[in-house]
Amino acid sequence: MRRISISPLAATLPISGQGQEMETDMAGALSPIDTAKFVAAKRAVEFVQDGMRVGLGTGSTAAWMVRCLGELVREDGLRITGVPTSTRTAELARQCGIKVVSLDEAKWLDLTIDGADEFDDDMNLIKGGGGALLMEKIVATASDQMIVITDAAKQVAQLGAFPLPIEVIPFGWQTTKALVEEMLVSLDVLGQTSSLRMNGERPFLTDEGNYIVDLHLNRIGNARQLAMVLNQVPGVVENGLFIDICDIVVIGHGDGRVEVRDANTGAVEEGRIDFVDSDNIFADLGD
Ligand code: A5P
Repeated sequence: MRRISISPLAATLPISGQGQEMETDMAGALSPIDTAKFVAAKRAVEFVQDGMRVGLGTGSTAAWMVRCLGELVREDGLRITGVPTSTRTAELARQCGIKVVSLDEAKWLDLTIDGADEFDDDMNLIKGGGGALLMEKIVATASDQMIVITDAAKQVAQLGAFPLPIEVIPFGWQTTKALVEEMLVSLDVLGQTSSLRMNGERPFLTDEGNYIVDLHLNRIGNARQLAMVLNQVPGVVENGLFIDICDIVVIGHGDGRVEVRDANTGAVEEGRIDFVDSDNIFADLGD
């Protein structure tokens, strides 16, 4: 993937974009975890330039990013085309005033910004906690760059504490699940059990109408190997391991600090986002 350079982080970035700060400090109104997610999102949208085709991730952190992008579109006249990774992100993006097209219409993307459930020192990821891993992986792979926005708690020495989601075809899902569990026995993982993700009394359905099976591995010794082997099992559509896909991780902290790590250069930059309540961006995201 092509590299992008990290520009120096502005010391203060009024969210209004009107060049002046307001008195209200939203840090008191947002929980530390939401502050961390928000400042990561706010920093990440600085990478978005006029005219870009942008992949829009799914999840609570990505929802902040969509809100931030929407503000830039509405207030600063930023012209972008968004390719959402789920129906709920598509809905939010439209609400925020972002032009939405399909991946087939966009064909290739300049940048994708998305959240993650875990990331390691090599910036490999577990994704799919929200069940959108298939579209997320297709969209991220069809992008020149992928930026992951996250809070610091999601960094792990080794992937696997977060259950690894795999998307499976409903037909014969129990056989697929059993085959996957059998295969795990010979791999470098600590746990070998799995569970069908439920939505109340019924199986959780992805946007493509598939099921999600969560693998309880506790520790993944060789994520690259596991990612390849899982996709060999008939019935498995995709797995939530994102290997060598992420280019930059933007890590937000509850006190407004932001760290930007570049996977390709090893560069690390630290800064702070001071933000104010300028509009409805802090309204309930419903995510
Ligand atoms: C969606 O399927 C996931 O990959 C999300 O990107 C991931 O679960 C992170 O979500 P949060 O930002 O809500 O933690």
